[in-house]
Amino acid sequence: MRQARYSAAFLLILFLAWGCARPHGDGAGKEGIILTAFGTSVPEARAAYGEIEREYREAFPGAELEWAFTSQKIRKKLAAEGLETSGVDGALDKLAKEGVSVVRVQSLHVMAGEEFAKLARAIVYYAHENPGRFKAVYLGRPLLESARDGQTVARALSESLAGNGAEAVILMGHGQKKGRAGLVMEGAGAALKNEDPRFFLASVEGEKGFPELLQELRKRKIKTAFLAPLMLVAGDHARNDLAGDEEDSWKSRLEKAGIKALGASMEGLGGKKEIRDLFIRHTREADENLALPPGSRRGDQEG
Ligand code: CO
Repeated sequence: MRQARYSAAFLLILFLAWGCARPHGDGAGKEGIILTAFGTSVPEARAAYGEIEREYREAFPGAELEWAFTSQKIRKKLAAEGLETSGVDGALDKLAKEGVSVVRVQSLHVMAGEEFAKLARAIVYYAHENPGRFKAVYLGRPLLESARDGQTVARALSESLAGNGAEAVILMGHGQKKGRAGLVMEGAGAALKNEDPRFFLASVEGEKGFPELLQELRKRKIKTAFLAPLMLVAGDHARNDLAGDEEDSWKSRLEKAGIKALGASMEGLGGKKEIRDLFIRHTREADENLALPPGSRRGDQEG
């Protein structure tokens, strides 16, 4: 009997604790934002991050804002130049010290490839290792997630890339040799073509690369092209592998194949307002609380 009463009291405490721990809307605690990109060693490209940050400060007034780079290689390179940058763990530590209880991490990756998967794993691992440190951690999905996202991006590019009158506007995506990114790249390519038949998408490190692109351009008897990156910022890939003067750049290889390059855009996706707005929408849409153990998250109880 006595034990039953204890159990009842214990259950009541548990129930109350659960009630307090549940998010009471996000106004309940201090908020923090972590903007997460691959990172770049090109200073001009890093300047483009500033525009994204400005818009986030406007969209989430009062929130603490940190940056995290997912590329270890880039972070090491920057550290050697005296520029300390955080990974996502470091950024989470900083926000915890600032007294933040609700964190929104936004992936600024173009698609959910390996960099995004690594980021998600790092957040879940951090939450597991530091239970109770945050009331909630949400992760916003990358740029190209849905057909709607594809259309938004295609429209933004079509409106901003006049292309100097070239017959083809060639977009260089990053891609990866294996994994899911290749299929997203196909979808993005279709959305781009649908919006503007001048668009051709290929990737620098992915499945569909320059040889496939050249084949397609030849099939359509393209003689002039304009170049642009399908990347957050115009970093090393855009400046060298796409539009550089070295003989292995896409520009040089196109010219060697008799296709004249009429210019290149060195504006990354982050330079376009519609695309910054899209990232902010993804930040707001993220509603799975990764600070909670699996099984108690939103949607886990639904059929
Ligand atoms: Co690369």
